[in-house]
Amino acid sequence: MKEKLLQKFEEIFGDTEGAKVYFAPGRVNLIGEHTDYNGGHVFPCALTIGTYGVARKREDKKLRFFSMNFENLGVIESTVDDLKPHKEAGWTNYPKGVMWAFGERGMQVTNGMDLMLFGNIPNGSGLSSSASVEVLTGSILRDMYGFEASNQDLALIGQFSENNFNGVNCGIMDQFAIAMGKKDNAIFLDTSNLQFEYAPIQLKGAKIVISCSNKKRGLGDSKYNERRSECETALAELQQVIGINTLGDLSEEQFELYKTAIKDEVRQKRAKHAVYENQRTIQAVEALKKDDIEKFGQLMNASHVSLRDDYEVTGVELDTLVEEAWKIDGVIGSRMTGAGFGGCTVSIVKDEAIDSFIEKVGAAYLKKIGYAADFYVVEIGDGPVIL
Ligand code: GLA
Repeated sequence: MKEKLLQKFEEIFGDTEGAKVYFAPGRVNLIGEHTDYNGGHVFPCALTIGTYGVARKREDKKLRFFSMNFENLGVIESTVDDLKPHKEAGWTNYPKGVMWAFGERGMQVTNGMDLMLFGNIPNGSGLSSSASVEVLTGSILRDMYGFEASNQDLALIGQFSENNFNGVNCGIMDQFAIAMGKKDNAIFLDTSNLQFEYAPIQLKGAKIVISCSNKKRGLGDSKYNERRSECETALAELQQVIGINTLGDLSEEQFELYKTAIKDEVRQKRAKHAVYENQRTIQAVEALKKDDIEKFGQLMNASHVSLRDDYEVTGVELDTLVEEAWKIDGVIGSRMTGAGFGGCTVSIVKDEAIDSFIEKVGAAYLKKIGYAADFYVVEIGDGPVIL
């Protein structure tokens, strides 16, 4: 892979003098969805698929970007004096946003660079290709300039750039999962204080299968921000009757006791999801520690139902993938993952059932939706590395 990437870099930028190869993973969230901006817990892991970058520092201020995923766009040029978002700059707004965000933290990017990317995460699939590019850029800058930034800092800088440069109001989960990834472990993260622990994922005789709906998110980002503000309003209403800082502070019992403070039925459902999903995530990690994978799977299924009925972020594509998965013997659990409205589902499937899973879910999906889904058997990998 490294050789191929360097060859391509040479083809695009003339030579490979001073160029280094970097990698940052994508992520999948096992459980704990739409909890990270509600002060709750999440349980994601980094994948072995992700984004490769070949980069070298330049003497001047010129930025030259090339993506092997968007070859038709050719080389996109800019300069470090223009670290502002431009619509027509497309994907380059992600690395530029991170350069800007380092500057906001007092770490100035003074020189230009040549940067070539290649991602093997399916685009727009909800496996965090954008957070992967952000953390990748952060690790390149850290290496190039000797900036003092921990991997956790790379996550925070990535989120800061996505929120303030790219205008997507995401939580910390994606960047954290990617920057802090650890092979064969998921990360049990409390988003209210960033305390976390690694939990080994030893799926004896089973694997993680990602089913990609190939439905592009479209309206997703605006709906995402809408859910956030519904939760904020519900929290403010609850705060009239109970002293909490986030929805993640509530147990299910407390929620049931105080929920009538939320004056709108829809908002009540949104808050219910945030509270119950957080508790489910805590229970899921407990179950995993006890080696009770069946229970873990049931909680994944319950998570999907809640995202479908209370949070309403699934849609017919994701529901079809999950409901067809549930029908198959050997499926331990299945749910949508990521923001929703499209993107992927995550399933834990026994080894002997994987082939029939892909065949049957694939056929049912094609029949109902009219276009094909893609399936990936994935492995849990490490955070960013220099190759
Ligand atoms: C997106 C966001 C994350 C998180 C998930 C939903 O992936 O980037 O911060 O909110 O949606 O769990």
